[in-house]
Amino acid sequence: MMATGSVKILLIEDNLAEARLLQEFLKQAQSKDFSVVHVQRLQNALQELTKDRALCSYDVILLDLTLPDSEGLSSLPTLIDYAPKLPIVVLTNTNDEALAIEAVRQGAQDYLVKRQVNVEVLVRSIHYAIERKQVLESLRTTNKTLETRVEQRTAELVKAQEINQFKSEFVSMISHDIRNPLNTILLAAGLLQNSDDKLTKEKKSSHFQMIRSAIKNMAQLLDEVSLIGQADSGKLHCELISIDLQNFCRYLIEEAQLTTGEKQINLVFTSVGEFRDALWDENLLRHILGNLLTNAIKYSLPGGTVKFELIGQEQAIAFRIQDYGIGIPEPDQKRLFQPFQRAENVGSIPGTGLGLAIVKKCVEAHGGEILLESKEGVGTTFIVVLPLLSL
Ligand SMILES: Nc1ncnc2c1ncn2[C@@H]1O[C@H](COP(=O)(O)OP(=O)(O)O)[C@@H](O)[C@H]1O
Ligand SMILES: [Mg+2]
Repeated sequence: MMATGSVKILLIEDNLAEARLLQEFLKQAQSKDFSVVHVQRLQNALQELTKDRALCSYDVILLDLTLPDSEGLSSLPTLIDYAPKLPIVVLTNTNDEALAIEAVRQGAQDYLVKRQVNVEVLVRSIHYAIERKQVLESLRTTNKTLETRVEQRTAELVKAQEINQFKSEFVSMISHDIRNPLNTILLAAGLLQNSDDKLTKEKKSSHFQMIRSAIKNMAQLLDEVSLIGQADSGKLHCELISIDLQNFCRYLIEEAQLTTGEKQINLVFTSVGEFRDALWDENLLRHILGNLLTNAIKYSLPGGTVKFELIGQEQAIAFRIQDYGIGIPEPDQKRLFQPFQRAENVGSIPGTGLGLAIVKKCVEAHGGEILLESKEGVGTTFIVVLPLLSL
């Protein structure tokens, strides 16, 4: 290439006398060494360029526009296609300058009228063509880089917009969910203050109970929101300790039983398989299983059964929580792992729609996966599979 000192030229010219003359001129040039490979047809030129593809040893092409196997400008696009980075100087006869100009328009770097060529003109044109092509190439690369950058930037902006939108939805959902219990508190407190002497002991106690449970709801909402915040900012760490899983699950069931109240849910715990020593994050496990059990109970009908199965496998543990409650309509199933999403069949059953989002994040933090199988009106099964971790 240019930098190595000599300039390598592919000369495509069917007229032997003219080819010889051009080679003679190049020999006479003092400023640089020129080496010329001469072919007489376009086909041979294409073969030569294919052979040279790996080396890319040519610096420039001199192309006669009247070849036996290609008339006029038709050889130009083919050549550019074969060697897009090589500058081309076209050679024309005196009477077809218009054609030459059109060639430049279509991608040649320069043209020479054969009868007017001398050493100086030829050398200058070759240098000019090489320089011009290099500038073009670097412009093209810059353009490409700019285009990619614009694309990346646009993608970032779209993402940022989505996050912003999500954040404002998040905030409005939280405000809404906090306003409800606040109203309850306001109302109950007002009743207690204004009609103190008219209220029976039972009524008073029921108003106080309403206030307490509204406060409990808000506290739970705040806990859940802060947990999701932690997960989103990557702060949901796994602190692994050794846990007796069967005992841990039995304890969770007892806790859940306390919340079933008048609903009379029949909770059944079983465990199968091997439970080798493995390490778990107690907090994550509690969020995962606690939320799934609470849901199973909450969305069961009174007197229903909830099954909790612990399945020990070679490399993993599966937790299977099954109920025979209201089920989840198929179209809702996918989105329920997003915050604030609830299925359309929940009716008046209270909830924030944050539980499954938390479960999913905790499962991911533990390197596991969660599966959902449900049929509306029949029941729901969640299966969580967590890998056995060790330090
Ligand atoms: N066991 C289940 N049976 C029926 N529907 C369920 C069950 N678990 C979850 N869902 C549906 O998924 C939604 C999201 O659950 P979750 O995030 O825990 O929120 P929520 O606070 O509403 O319980 C619920 O509102 C409900 O529509
Ligand atoms: Mg829930």
